[in-house]
Amino acid sequence: MPQAKRKTRSGTDPEAAWFGFRHVRPEDKAGLVREVFTSVAGRYDLMNDLMSGGLHRLWKDRLVAIMHPKAGDIILDVAGGTGDVALRCLKRTDHKAKITVCDINPAMLKEGRAKMMDHGILSGIEWVTGNAEELPLPSRSVDIYSIAFGLRNVTHIDKALSEAARVLKPGGRFYCLEFSPGVRHELKPLYDRYCLSVLPWIGEFVAKDRDAYRYLAESIQKFPDQPALAKRMEKAGLTQVKWLNLTGGVAVIHEGWRV
Ligand SMILES: C[S@@+](CC[C@H](N)C(=O)[O-])C[C@H]1O[C@@H](n2cnc3c(N)ncnc32)[C@H](O)[C@@H]1O
Repeated sequence: MPQAKRKTRSGTDPEAAWFGFRHVRPEDKAGLVREVFTSVAGRYDLMNDLMSGGLHRLWKDRLVAIMHPKAGDIILDVAGGTGDVALRCLKRTDHKAKITVCDINPAMLKEGRAKMMDHGILSGIEWVTGNAEELPLPSRSVDIYSIAFGLRNVTHIDKALSEAARVLKPGGRFYCLEFSPGVRHELKPLYDRYCLSVLPWIGEFVAKDRDAYRYLAESIQKFPDQPALAKRMEKAGLTQVKWLNLTGGVAVIHEGWRV
């Protein structure tokens, strides 16, 4: 991603956003993130399996079990990428929920649509290109909002959380599955080493993009830990916020309600 590097700037500008470990201008971050996912879209699912040893499937299963979608629910999966969460929601509701997958990157959505066709699914999911910070949906229109491994990538997390609260109906539920920097103390040295050394190496050999997977590793370290994210959810208007650590806190599900 040589272009990405050219656009970044160093220093500790308080107005800057994080792109991995680097400060970038907030207006540049979405474009840089888009480049990352455009570059890896075709190998995204394979990389997920390789990087997590298949664990991401269990984490997503757990997420959807906790979401407990029912027939007739209107579900919005933001940063939905290739549709893993949407697929699980469809199966769990026997294809009777209405699901919108919203993602800023058309290349990821294209992969998702193709994957659904491979599963013989031709309807039940609407694919929408859109930004988590400015959702193209009316207020109070959604029963369940989910975002899996997406919040870390948005430029303004608080804006995305406010948008989630806006689109949820009163009584609607918010779920975020995300990697966390707050892994258990005894796992931390091994985990950090894996993220910062092994992940970029797998990225180079499989997705042919070392920088994209270095970004992934760095962005995890910069993401708020469990209590910090919970506070920000409450500030955005979500209540009864709680979280569940998965695999020693490597991944976390945060949950909240819109009153
Ligand atoms: C790591 S992938 C997660 C995809 C999927 N949710 C999953 O769990 O497999 C992150 C996704 O977030 C999307 N994304 C990044 N910034 C976004 C934004 N501001 N609004 C919506 N989607 C965004 C990317 O295009 C990418 O598809």
